[in-house]
Amino acid sequence: MSSSTVITNIATLVTNDPSSGWGDSPLGLIHDAAVVIDGDRVAWTGESSKAPATDNRVDAGGRAVLPGFVDSHSHLVFAGDRTQEFNARMSGRSYTAGGIRTTVAATRAASDAELEANLTHYLAEALRQGTTTFETKSGYGLTVEDESRALRIAARHTEEVTYLGAHIVSPDADDPAAYVALVTGEMLDACAPHARWIDVFCEKGAFDGDQARAVLTAGKAKGLHPRIHANQLSYGPGVQLAVELDAASADHCTHLTDADVDALASGRTVATLLPGAEFSTRAQWPDARRLLDAGVTVALSTDCNPGSSFTSSVPFCIALAVRDMGMTPDEAVWSATAGGAAALRRDDIGRLRPGARADLTLLDAPSHVHLAYRPGVPLVTGVWRRGARVV
Ligand code: NIG
Ligand code: FE
Repeated sequence: MSSSTVITNIATLVTNDPSSGWGDSPLGLIHDAAVVIDGDRVAWTGESSKAPATDNRVDAGGRAVLPGFVDSHSHLVFAGDRTQEFNARMSGRSYTAGGIRTTVAATRAASDAELEANLTHYLAEALRQGTTTFETKSGYGLTVEDESRALRIAARHTEEVTYLGAHIVSPDADDPAAYVALVTGEMLDACAPHARWIDVFCEKGAFDGDQARAVLTAGKAKGLHPRIHANQLSYGPGVQLAVELDAASADHCTHLTDADVDALASGRTVATLLPGAEFSTRAQWPDARRLLDAGVTVALSTDCNPGSSFTSSVPFCIALAVRDMGMTPDEAVWSATAGGAAALRRDDIGRLRPGARADLTLLDAPSHVHLAYRPGVPLVTGVWRRGARVV
């Protein structure tokens, strides 16, 4: 029999379940709240005074509880470091897709054990900052063997694994067409059993619209669901292709035309914004306000990778989104929890309601707004994953 725990004396509980909260906020806020965990699931949420009897009791001490962050975009199977490239950018050099080659060389040279140790290091770092679900990708191998081993390693740590053989054209390919044939052929066959998603970097210097379509369509035929790196460094066809193919998410969305925004508003594809990348490449910010005002579902994620966004911190991304992308603190917190879940087409995470996975974060603050109000402060003081306290 599973044991039950009540976390009580919560000043602000973010449920992301408007039907159980007060008022009409999408955050479904409950004040003076409690949440009951039974086994690995949420069993009850409501006012502290009405909480049912449980086996165990945790006093939140008048602090805030929210769903664990859902980081729906990261690149954590890698080796090496690109400090020099970052330094050069901060002296005025611009970011290009070409830097990926540096990480490809280091990743190919690393052993399985080194790659896994690196992955677990950054996962522990993310967990301490409240991330309870993460997606991660291949994309630094670019050979049949190196891509499939990256996915095998990732799959030991998350069910949200993405095949990104089409990150850039491999440096050893004869030509781009031959590489696309490999990515959609032998490499896909080797990788599909280890992944849920297929992704492509649709960008100048990486893959154009036709190549991206070929990659995602081949993945779909093998049972992988599409997501796409789109419109990061320049305007392009990626976002509209994502909507056309019913991709779960179009990621980056920094350079958008009105037609791109309209396409996102008309489909199911989530716009995942990755402000760590704009921070670390000193690029213009994506306009979250424009997307939200058009009715687009927005997710916020880290894009954690050694080249363009070396942060595992969702709270940092929330603070950037509030300061520079036109989001309110409530919108940013929703996007980093329920929004991330939507970008992974999941409804068992990102919300605290009966039956949901008991993935929770306790902040050393009375409200979730403090994630933006007190930027840079390590506010996460407790984390429960699948009902077990892990921080
Ligand atoms: O999401 N945009 C493409 N891929 C990564 C960058 C990877 C790298 O620079 O190593 C991104 O920003
Ligand atoms: Fe990325």
